[in-house]
Amino acid sequence: MSDDLLTRESLQAFSDHRREGFEWELRNLVEIPTISADPRHRDDMWRCAEYARDMFFRYGFEAEILEAGGNPVVLGTMGRDPGFPTVTVYNHLDVQPADEPGWTTEPFRMIVEGNCYKGRGTTDDKGPAVTAFYGAIAAREAGVPVNVRFLWEGEEEVGSPSFRDTLERHRAKLETDLVAVSDTIWVTRGKPSTPAGLRGLMGFTLSLETAAHDLHSGLVGGAARNPLSELMKVVSTMMDGETGHVKIPDFYADALTPTGEELEGWLGSGFDVEVFKRDHALKSLRTEDPLEIMKRIWGRPTMEVHGVVGGYTGPGIKTAIPPRAEVKLSCRLAPGMDPHRTFERIAAFVAGEFPDVAVGEGHGLAPFRGRTTGPHAEAVKDAYRFAFGVPCAFTREGGSIGAVKTLEDVLGVPVHFLGLSLPSHGYHAPNENFDWEQAAGGMALFARFFENVGRVG
Ligand code: BES
Ligand code: MN
Ligand code: MN
Repeated sequence: MSDDLLTRESLQAFSDHRREGFEWELRNLVEIPTISADPRHRDDMWRCAEYARDMFFRYGFEAEILEAGGNPVVLGTMGRDPGFPTVTVYNHLDVQPADEPGWTTEPFRMIVEGNCYKGRGTTDDKGPAVTAFYGAIAAREAGVPVNVRFLWEGEEEVGSPSFRDTLERHRAKLETDLVAVSDTIWVTRGKPSTPAGLRGLMGFTLSLETAAHDLHSGLVGGAARNPLSELMKVVSTMMDGETGHVKIPDFYADALTPTGEELEGWLGSGFDVEVFKRDHALKSLRTEDPLEIMKRIWGRPTMEVHGVVGGYTGPGIKTAIPPRAEVKLSCRLAPGMDPHRTFERIAAFVAGEFPDVAVGEGHGLAPFRGRTTGPHAEAVKDAYRFAFGVPCAFTREGGSIGAVKTLEDVLGVPVHFLGLSLPSHGYHAPNENFDWEQAAGGMALFARFFENVGRVG
């Protein structure tokens, strides 16, 4: 378009010129260990929120810290022109723990190797956050008619327990026309994808106690119950451990089937089974059929066993019968499913078949169903093509972002995704990384997206 305020060249010059500043801000954020799951890092959450607030100030934005009992949320504001549309960009500042054995460098030091930035939180989600921030600066410098708000959360990795309260409490200052979330991954490098749906999550536990203390298996074995083996039976009655099929009545009933149009988008997303296996270091799969894999990771619910607690795990074999055991599980939920309703179905099934097994409900995250049409979806599509030179595919994401459904509900506006991470960046994995190619392209992506939204009005 001839009336474009931003060109690919001007944005290339912008990112080249600002690279040092970008790396500086990212390093300072990454080097604060904002592990939300660990209460010992509460002060770090505050330190990071204050750093982010002061960063917004340094670049001439307004900023404040919003509180609602949990970890702080940072609100940064660029522009307040009532004649311009307002976009709210969501990211999270908290990260996963970094105690996996595979780290080859200090996780909370940002290591720069060429174009690669290594460290916990570089890709999930501090790198994309700072990228979007720089995209807004580029838009501001070009005079793009848009107001941008940043909402940087501190509890995403623990299911956003106080995010709804925070939004509701501060709703008056959060009026917006749409939300853009940058916390998702492409199918592969060079092939942008944007999800039109996210799975939800529902964690739960099974526990059983059959004695008061450990027992000698020679003295009572045969007559005594074994809580570990009984819980294994409970799990295998609920699901087929090999295929993953869940046998709870109506478990799949509310899951929306992907439309033909969606499946077409998935088939054009560049998904490749070998690359998928390599990116995630998978040795073998339940199926090798690409469409079946995409349906399973994006479109269908799952049940997973994450951990078994109980019994002897030291060297050799100890012939004790454990008195109690616990299994930790979760279900990913397809759009259409409800976390609590799913829990109730599981709990009712277990109560009917295994009455003395206790079922505990964890915090649930609702799944999300997004849009692939309309002016804002077009703004997303155009921005990806502009920034990366190739069209984006509308896929879905198998992961969950609790804040997304909350943003849609409380702010009452559509949510779109401008993700920049890649499978090879290693979400939650050792040696998590982000890279300059995605950051520089991402600045152009956001700047162009803001310009497009300004045009939609
Ligand atoms: N950014 C991810 C969500 C995600 C995962 C998007 C995979 C795309 C692909 C987010 O930070 C995340 O890790 N969510 C957790 C939430 C949970 C810990 C409450 C998840 O999905 O497990
Ligand atoms: Mn994330
Ligand atoms: Mn994450």
